[in-house]
Amino acid sequence: MDLHHIRAEYSKQELSQRQCHANPIQQFEIWLNEAIKAEVCEPTAMNIATINAQGKPNSRVVLLKEVNSQGFVFFTNYHSQKGQALAHQPFAALNFFWAELERQVRIEGRVEKLSAQQSDDYFASRPYTSRIGAWASEQSAVISSKNVLLAKAAMIAAQHPLHVPRPAHWGGYLVIPEMIEFWQGRPSRLHDRIRYRFENDQWLKERLAP
Ligand SMILES: Cc1cc2nc3c(=O)[nH]c(=O)nc-3n(C[C@H](O)[C@H](O)[C@H](O)COP(=O)(O)O)c2cc1C
Repeated sequence: MDLHHIRAEYSKQELSQRQCHANPIQQFEIWLNEAIKAEVCEPTAMNIATINAQGKPNSRVVLLKEVNSQGFVFFTNYHSQKGQALAHQPFAALNFFWAELERQVRIEGRVEKLSAQQSDDYFASRPYTSRIGAWASEQSAVISSKNVLLAKAAMIAAQHPLHVPRPAHWGGYLVIPEMIEFWQGRPSRLHDRIRYRFENDQWLKERLAP
């Protein structure tokens, strides 16, 4: 399989230090809004990398469910592979790639669990079948067949025909950023990279070589 010829030139937009907002979370919100308006595929999908107890990296895609002045929120199973990694090493790296806009955002930071109340509130807003699924799926565990999962979901639905409580092992995490980088593709691989670092209680903005 020859992949050498697959190559795109990026030229849609430029990014300068001056045009970037002083606060990177507000800059992120500007870019996320533009991704949503541009109808990119899954604008809130982000890769999240963690480090497990053996010191090995591991990554997967999750959905961003909230961004606020504190950071970036997603929801998952606390017993999953990523949940176990975060219990051991509460740091993560996030990555958004909005191909249609030739943009990437990289975020690194400490991770904290949301409060039970915050997780309850979001869980209650999910569709019924997703709430059943949170109980039925022992996320990241080996299962003998798909039928085992379907039978478990049917059993839980029978037990909870209306109200589905949140499983204690399912909830949200907040990624509190200490680094955020905005990458805009440019011609001839001379891309624009603006990186923010949180130091001495303030955000510093720097340009990086591509
Ligand atoms: C577009 C997309 C969105 C996803 N969103 C979530 C999510 O919000 N939460 C989640 O736990 N898994 C989500 N997944 C599944 C994860 O990628 C992953 O398979 C799962 O969380 C188990 O990961 P782990 O074994 O590393 O813990 C999503 C997958 C895709 C492709």
